[in-house]
Amino acid sequence: MKTIVPFLDLITLHKELEEELVQVFRKALHTAGFIGGGPVTSFEQHFAAYCEAAECIGVASGTDALLLAFLAGGIKPGETVLTVAHTFIATAEAITQAGAVPEFIDVDERTCTMDAEKLRSYLEGCRPDPVTGKRLGQRTGNPITAVVPVHLYGQMAEMDAILGIAEEFGLQVYEDACQAHGAKYFSRRENRWLTAGSVGKAAAFSFYPGKNLGACGEAGAVTTNDPELARKVRVLRDHGQPRKYFHEAIGYNGRLDAIQAGFLDVKLKYLPRWTEQRRAVARAYDRMLSDMDGIVFPCERENSEAVYHLYVVRVEDRDTVLEKLAEQGVGTGIHYPVPLHLQPAYSFLGYSQGDLPVTEAAAASALSLPMYPGLSLQDQEYVVQALCRVLDCAVVAQ
Ligand SMILES: Cc1ncc(COP(=O)(O)O)c(C=O)c1O
Repeated sequence: MKTIVPFLDLITLHKELEEELVQVFRKALHTAGFIGGGPVTSFEQHFAAYCEAAECIGVASGTDALLLAFLAGGIKPGETVLTVAHTFIATAEAITQAGAVPEFIDVDERTCTMDAEKLRSYLEGCRPDPVTGKRLGQRTGNPITAVVPVHLYGQMAEMDAILGIAEEFGLQVYEDACQAHGAKYFSRRENRWLTAGSVGKAAAFSFYPGKNLGACGEAGAVTTNDPELARKVRVLRDHGQPRKYFHEAIGYNGRLDAIQAGFLDVKLKYLPRWTEQRRAVARAYDRMLSDMDGIVFPCERENSEAVYHLYVVRVEDRDTVLEKLAEQGVGTGIHYPVPLHLQPAYSFLGYSQGDLPVTEAAAASALSLPMYPGLSLQDQEYVVQALCRVLDCAVVAQ
């Protein structure tokens, strides 16, 4: 069947911006300014301000942002880094690419972000190194040096609790903020609202086209309040050179190109409005789904302001529901069907089914409904009515 409500509609979103985006491209053509320069610096300044972080360094992707943040922050081969398995593989890939090994903490049932209580009990269950006192990974036997919570679906992880635990156990905290541009939470530790990207030692953002702030190609950024870490990321993203042809480190070609930076600068102006629209779409879904049996709708934690990169419900027999929705022209997604600890790529860690029960339940039942700024109420009603028919619900959405 023809798609009636797509999962994501970037085409309509970009129509409104077409002239501004074409201008960016024209300017790059006319100045031959394709790499670095004014557009990159301008976007970096604007995005740092948006995240309330001291520094932003544009890079080639969210994966590069994670990797370069880890390397610049001092994660070393042979270390263990704790993260979650209910995320896109890039979170763990970047840990592995930095030479460290991930171990996975289960997620919280309601929000699918790292469960802080489980982080604590995991660390308490780890043997301390007799010399350094650092906890040793239960699977790797190597010192645990960092934790990488993921602000999944656009909601920040329980950062106050995670930061407290990290301090206690001497761990660095890196935010995977790839899905959480502009997400906030009220920090009781600091008695103020904090924005994703300003909280950990460093944070990684993705500007993959479908993200809340998406480029028209690949792009990413690191944000941090640590000037030395920022300097190192700048050097590493550019072949390890602080000055052309003077290489202080073996680096990467991980630069953000000027055209993407220009596109992002244009789109950043619209992001606050788009975020409001996403939040309004989420509230409308919450209302429409609240009386429906057989569906668990997403939970926004108290004192948290999620930006709803995705609106993920939980249903039984998810794959059939997805297929039947597709038959009615509703586009959906699964984020993510196979948790990282059960992926063949990470089989060397020796995890098996049952090790992370909440993560595994989420992977089996998560279904992402259409979510994008500009999704009309009428289309949302169509989605919910289709869902009602599939789940055979008594209540029909109004
Ligand atoms: C949670 C998370 N981490 C990392 C990434 C990697 O970002 P990119 O695709 O820009 O490399 C993504 C993007 O899909 C993501 O969703």
